Amino acid sequence: MRGLQRELAAAEIGPAQVIRNAFGDMADVLLPSESEEPILAPGPRAALFQWLAEIRAKDELEAVGLKPSHRALLYGPPGTGKTTMAHHLAARLGLPLVCVRSEGLIDKYLGSTGQNIGRMMDAAQEHANEIVLFIDEIDALGGKRQQDSGASQERANSLNVLLRRIELLDAPVLAATNRQDHLDTALWRRFHLQISVDLPGIDERFAILKRYVHPFAPTDDTLDLLAGVTEGCSPALLRGLMEGFKRAAIIYPKIKRDLNNAPALLEQIVSSVAPPPELEPKPTLWEIKPTERAKIAAQLAWPWERAA
Ligand SMILES: Nc1ncnc2c1ncn2[C@@H]1O[C@H](COP(=O)(O)OP(=O)(O)O)[C@@H](O)[C@H]1O
Ligand SMILES: [Mg+2]
Repeated sequence: MRGLQRELAAAEIGPAQVIRNAFGDMADVLLPSESEEPILAPGPRAALFQWLAEIRAKDELEAVGLKPSHRALLYGPPGTGKTTMAHHLAARLGLPLVCVRSEGLIDKYLGSTGQNIGRMMDAAQEHANEIVLFIDEIDALGGKRQQDSGASQERANSLNVLLRRIELLDAPVLAATNRQDHLDTALWRRFHLQISVDLPGIDERFAILKRYVHPFAPTDDTLDLLAGVTEGCSPALLRGLMEGFKRAAIIYPKIKRDLNNAPALLEQIVSSVAPPPELEPKPTLWEIKPTERAKIAAQLAWPWERAA
């Protein structure tokens, strides 16, 4: 009876909940079923699948005296799919992704950040075979070491804890940063693979635009045109752009705005979905004058049909 009760209790909370409880507010747990595959250039894609192959071949590697190269660092601008990729890779292994926000481990009390890292690593080690650990914005914990002062001594101490614990951890680890220049060299070296996830090239932009405009189906000429004027856009921004068109297709008729006025629509989307202010040079679509945008709008063959 007691055994059954235990079983029922376990079934109720489920394995994912056990992991959520173990990490508490230190991490978000993303489930395999909710993942989406990002569209990446062939280089980083191949590197990430190499990481995956190493984890899968763990037993075979160990049989010949090797350890899997199971730590990979993803670096590149915001919105390029680092978190999405980590989630997708964990899902390919059938494991939940434990997303640790590095900022959340930092504590103003002396010694507390190191202790927080220790607690997080204890939980990760306890569930080493059941999770992929994802340390997001790892630069917050592992910035370059600076001159001696109280605060930087504290940072150096917590960085040392991180360096030591990451090496001892048996779980596969992915980490991400968009400030790779600020990352401590010793921490950088803790990762077997360092994978650059850059802004998408024209082929990836085409595929990303096509994915996020679905179920609408603009012609390939239209997608080519948009891919051509969005150099420098992150995938997240491309998604926002396409969602702007889709939203208008649904909402404009309801609020009696003219859905067929493509130039006005493009102006509205471009002014409401903008690249981050620090991005220089601006992607063409945001850089050009409204009169030139109107010419692009005229070629969009808008409004678009829905795919059958
Ligand atoms: N390479 C990509 N392919 C398709 N969609 C992407 C890609 N990168 C980002 N996105 C979209 O943008 C959103 C934010 O991306 P995210 O993975 O959080 O980027 P990062 O972690 O690099 O800042 C994702 O939810 C996804 O919808
Ligand atoms: Mg992210």
